[in-house]
Amino acid sequence: MEKGLAVVIGATGAIGAALLAQLEAEALYVTAIGFSRSSIPPVDYTDEATLVQAAHGVAEECTRLNLPLRLLVVATGTLHSPAGQPERSWANLNADYLQQVFQTNALGPALVIKHFFPLLPKTGRVAVGFLSAKVGSIGDNALGGWYGYRASKAALNQFVRTAAIELTRRNKDSLCIALHPGTVDSALSQPFAKTGLNVRAPDVAARELLGVLEGLGAEGTGKFWDYAGQALPW
Ligand SMILES: NC(=O)c1ccc[n+]([C@@H]2O[C@H](COP(=O)([O-])OP(=O)(O)OC[C@H]3O[C@@H](n4cnc5c(N)ncnc54)[C@H](OP(=O)(O)O)[C@@H]3O)[C@@H](O)[C@H]2O)c1
Repeated sequence: MEKGLAVVIGATGAIGAALLAQLEAEALYVTAIGFSRSSIPPVDYTDEATLVQAAHGVAEECTRLNLPLRLLVVATGTLHSPAGQPERSWANLNADYLQQVFQTNALGPALVIKHFFPLLPKTGRVAVGFLSAKVGSIGDNALGGWYGYRASKAALNQFVRTAAIELTRRNKDSLCIALHPGTVDSALSQPFAKTGLNVRAPDVAARELLGVLEGLGAEGTGKFWDYAGQALPW
């Protein structure tokens, strides 16, 4: 393991907070920095200037420690909010909800790529994971419903794949992947976590997701993986 910094975006979420706690506990990285809409500085996808400022802060910390950013995990996401609920039918399609899920699940992470990927070193191992969702898989969609969430995660997956290709040109030892965490106990999943589903604790999910990120080599880049290390179809 080469020395460096780790960053978690969405560190107030159930999975994001557990990822940050796990990184701090295992101390594989010299420091782990968490961002959220309430961190200082904040990261709020509705305001690109917050991403510019946060990335600038990480760059300064890298300079101060004379170490690169080696791990980036994007654990943000939304499924339901005052803007709306996941749709059961095309009759429920609503532009306000669609805009909000696309902003949080796809456009925000794209801005993370824009502002944080330039901080990644050109040599040595680098790992980037974006929390996606299996329901974002087009190939796996047999049930329908949840139009906005599915489509926004499919858009995220395309951003991840495209950025992975560009990142490999910059650093052949890089890993940039979409990750499905499984069903995890959180505010996001709570209204939909039906009995019978295997709902896992955030700390269990965090350990598994970091295991996938740390276990895969560069040959795993540009792909969609679940928490158990199984490849998922796009
Ligand atoms: N839990 C599950 O069962 C499950 C299943 C499949 C996939 N996932 C995916 O896993 C990821 C994490 O989910 P979770 O269950 O941990 O959800 P969560 O507890 O609701 O956390 C969501 C995170 O996203 C952040 N966020 C929301 N809107 C944002 C915005 N506009 N700008 C910046 N940050 C924003 C939240 O920040 P604030 O604290 O500021 O609101 C929070 O940190 C998501 O991508 C989700 O789609 C989860």
